[in-house]
Order: sequence, then C-alpha cells, then structure tokens
Amino acid sequence: TLIRGRLLSFNRAPQAIDDSAAYSYESDGALLIGDGVIKASGPYGVVKAAAPDGVTEIDHRPHLIMPGFIDTHLHFPQMQVMASYAANLLEWLNTYTFPEECRFVESAHAERIAIHFFDEMIRHGTTTAAAYCSVHKASADAFFAESLKRNMRMVAGKVMMDRNAPQGLLDTPGMSYDETRAVIADWHGKGRNHVAITPRFAITSTPEQMEVAKSLVGEFPDLHVQTHLSENRDEITFTCELYPEAKDYTDVYARYGLLGPKSLFGHCIHLSDREADAMSETGSVAVFCPTSNLFLGSGLFPLRALTRRQKPVRVSVASDIGGGTSYSMLKTLDEAYKILQLQAERLNPFDSFYLMTRCNAEALSLVERIGTLEPGTDADLVVLNMAATPAMALRAEVVNSLADELFLLQTMGDDRAIVETYVAGRPAKSSLGTV
Ligand code: GUN
Ligand code: FE
Repeated sequence: TLIRGRLLSFNRAPQAIDDSAAYSYESDGALLIGDGVIKASGPYGVVKAAAPDGVTEIDHRPHLIMPGFIDTHLHFPQMQVMASYAANLLEWLNTYTFPEECRFVESAHAERIAIHFFDEMIRHGTTTAAAYCSVHKASADAFFAESLKRNMRMVAGKVMMDRNAPQGLLDTPGMSYDETRAVIADWHGKGRNHVAITPRFAITSTPEQMEVAKSLVGEFPDLHVQTHLSENRDEITFTCELYPEAKDYTDVYARYGLLGPKSLFGHCIHLSDREADAMSETGSVAVFCPTSNLFLGSGLFPLRALTRRQKPVRVSVASDIGGGTSYSMLKTLDEAYKILQLQAERLNPFDSFYLMTRCNAEALSLVERIGTLEPGTDADLVVLNMAATPAMALRAEVVNSLADELFLLQTMGDDRAIVETYVAGRPAKSSLGTV
C-alpha cells in the first residue's frame, strides 16, 4: 500500500521553535507499506517510482501523517473511574479506584473492558501504550489477548500489590512472583506484546514484595519496570513512614534495584535534587501526566527543571487514565502546555509532537520499532485533520505554518481530529466495529 499525504516525524528533540533540523517534513510525501512495516518514506514521486506496479494508493491529502501516538502510563482497569469526584490521590484511590479494580477478578468483565480500551486507543490515534492491568492475572490475560488480536505494540503488566488496599485487590509476594512469571511466559513476545514488571507503588507493596520485584528484574533484565513515584505530598509522607530506612521515596525503589533505563516512574512531581540525580544516573524515566496531575491536584510537573539540569532526567508524557481525564494525547499535551505556562516556561508545538511520538518511543527503548517514519519500523501511523470541527476549520483558515497547524491540533483537537489510525499498516479506526 502507498499512503500519500503530508509527512512529519522527528529526528531528535527540538532545541527551539525554529530548529527545523529536528524534524523531517514532506509537503507531498508518501509511505510504502508492506508486511506491517514502512518500506520506504519520502517525496511522493520518489516513493511511487520505487513502488510495485499497481500498488494500492490511499490519498490522505491535505491531512498530516505522523507516527502513531504513544502513551507511556495509563491504567486499563480505570476506564470507568475517569471523572470520579475526589479531593486528592489517596481519597480517589480508596473511594473509587480500588473498588472498581476489584471487578477485574472476573475474566468476562476484563475482556469486555479490554475491547473498549483498544477501541479508545485507536479512536484517539494512540498505537502504543504502557498500561497497568489490575492485580488479577485474568486482567493481564484479557489485555494481552485483545492486543494480540489487534496486532498492537503494547507494554503492560499485572499489578503487584499486597497491602493497604481492599482484600479483593491483594496478592502475596509469592503469588505476585508466580503470576508475573506466568504472564511473561504466556504473553511476552507474543505478537507485539511486551510484559512489564509492575509493582503499583511503595505504599501497596510490603518489603517482601519489593524483594520479589527485585528478583524479577534480576531474572528478566530486559523487561520494562513501571511504578508510581512522588505524585502527592501525603503519599510521600506515608511512603517514608513505611520505609524508614530509605533516604527518600526514590531510594525505596533504588534499594530494591528498580531504577534503570527500562524503568518508568509515573508523576515525579516533587523530587528532591538528590532524587533527580539518582533518576539521571540510572537512566530512569520520569513520566509527565498533565491531565491527571491537574485533576487530582497533585502539582505542576517541573519539566524544564528535570530536563535542563546538569544531570538531566529522561522524561515522557502520558494520560494516566483514569486519574487523567482524556484518552487523547493532543488534549494531554494541551494541558502540559498550560502547566508549563503556570511555571513561566514554554512548550512549543514541535516539543509537544516530539514528546508524544519519538520521545515516548525512546522512553520505552522502542525507537527502533515505533515513534518515527523510518523505513524498517512498524507502520503504526496517525492521520491528523486540523479542520476537523467547525471551530477548528475556521481557525485553520488563517493557519500559515506547520507550527501553527500543530498548535491548533493540540489546543483544539481531540479524537475528531484523528482521520485514521494505522496499526501495522492496517487502517484500524475506519474499521472499528466492523471486524
Ligand atoms: N498511585 C498508585 N496507584 C495509582 C493510580 O492508579 N493512579 C495514580 N494516578 N496514582 C497512583
Ligand atoms: Fe497512574
């Protein structure tokens, strides 16, 4: 298949709004797709000349084709927790989130929600996500089975949690070891599935369970690790009470060998200098979840302070559904922009689209497969229409640069701006509900 349109992808982080070497743009471009992979990418005429005779052409002009969006932190069992009214993180977890996650003990429930989860990802142009399942192995089975069916590249894990939650949401150190190993054996490397070691956070794991997480990381050093860190002041205080021997919250995870280049730490809003140094030295990733941080009143993520310090911290962006309030990475970056405004910082439109594509792929150590339009990588794509609604179309009349177009998409766009989502070369949005 030949997919024609305007092409945009990033080569590296933009240094400024006029840093045009940071990205590649083709005003009349094409991608040659075969076997779920991008075979060629470039100007339409050049790619067309190299394509087989009679190749099927899909013309997306005047729309913009980009690598599919990547969401580096969200919770599959929290689709029905979104928009729950709570004052702060711990109240929100105890009142709504933990009771809701208990329902995922039932395979039938998990399977039904998994269908909706993947539908929403595709509807919003997200082709890869790093997801938390619930504590129940059945939730991970439902998630990965649906991911395999849709041939999506997903990172996910069975949550490990053995205290400070309702009985129906607790495993034990032994169970979390056995079941995480079983999930790895059943799903890791099946299709495009990646299993992540997923201790929920320090508050819900005993030191014995943290030892188990440490053993799993030792046994499976190539797997992702995901957890939460430094989201809320009360959470930090409680964590330090539970682990009095640790220097600080980050040190709890460091003591159990959980820091490293495959480790994703949700939130990281209130890190000390020492903690940021530890994150930097280990190559750990701080995951910025703008809509969640505002919704739960957790705080303003210090993006520049983390990335521009002498020892820079790797960062990524994410929705954190259901603490987050939108599946859309466009809306997520819209809120990120506002969080930086409140800190007298700027986030230019190229920064935003770099973050939701290449930067997030690098955070997952998957940039060899996703996050760019490089030949040889997975044909996971999103097609964007800056005139998707009447209000957007009116604003689009006076857009006269790529930066303006991206900023309009980010500020006014949502799932309606997603014309099509390609998963391994297959148009997945237009076929939702038909297969
Ligand atoms: N910390 C521990 N669990 C969670 C969760 O489900 N959501 C958020 N936002 N923070 C958490
Ligand atoms: Fe989260």
